[in-house]
Amino acid sequence: MDFPIIIGNWKMNLTPHESEMVAKKIVAGLPSQGVSAEIVLCPSFPALEKVARVTVQSSIALGAQNFFWQESGSYTGEVSAKMLKEVGCSWSIIGHSERRINLRETDSEINKKVKLALAYDIVPVICVGEKYEEREGGQKDFVIMREVTSALKGVDKFSRLVIAYEPVWVIGRGEAIDPEEAQSVATLIKYTLRDIYSHEVVEKKIQILYGGSVDDQNVNQFVDQELIKGVLVGGSSLKPEIFLGIINRLTSNAN
Ligand code: 13P
Repeated sequence: MDFPIIIGNWKMNLTPHESEMVAKKIVAGLPSQGVSAEIVLCPSFPALEKVARVTVQSSIALGAQNFFWQESGSYTGEVSAKMLKEVGCSWSIIGHSERRINLRETDSEINKKVKLALAYDIVPVICVGEKYEEREGGQKDFVIMREVTSALKGVDKFSRLVIAYEPVWVIGRGEAIDPEEAQSVATLIKYTLRDIYSHEVVEKKIQILYGGSVDDQNVNQFVDQELIKGVLVGGSSLKPEIFLGIINRLTSNAN
């Protein structure tokens, strides 16, 4: 629980074969002295099994980018938490802004997914973050508090969950926000969590990550912030040398 978390979200970018190649390069490039970080790769659904065969021999965990909010049944085209568990996923991103925006994913669906993930022993990585207009309109804090609170409605028993703060307007921009701002949002998330859970639960069972244009050059500035326990990485996780650079920086930081 004390090591920084590094999650690579490959989004809809790599074919299964390409995913396997990238995963192999990442596994081969891991520091020989071992990794003092929790590393998770989230390929697309069709690539999960191929990547699982590569990561199973390493300390890297497998994650999904999403799943459906019902347990099973007539939901053509959807994938369940149980299916993910069977192919080796122990983590899943939930409520990414690209899904909230492009697929109209709602707070209530996200809440159902969080409960299902926990039921299948999958660590939920709940994404929250404001859009540019919301930020400009002074609604940033409200949006984040609402997204955190509604994702966790009725979620009372869990061994672990993760909240990733991803300001929507910096995703894929190539320039992150100020690390101090990420820390101040993490403080807001902590206060919001403390309205729901005991101090002990918040401190021991919930970790907060930052995501949005993270690379090997800026990662330390985020993880050096007291409340930020790791990063959710998009574009830079597709490039093995940069993702390994992130791992190396955080691993040497933790030693
Ligand atoms: P980028 O790192 O490409 O900005 O993407 C962030 C993200 O959306 C990770 O989930």
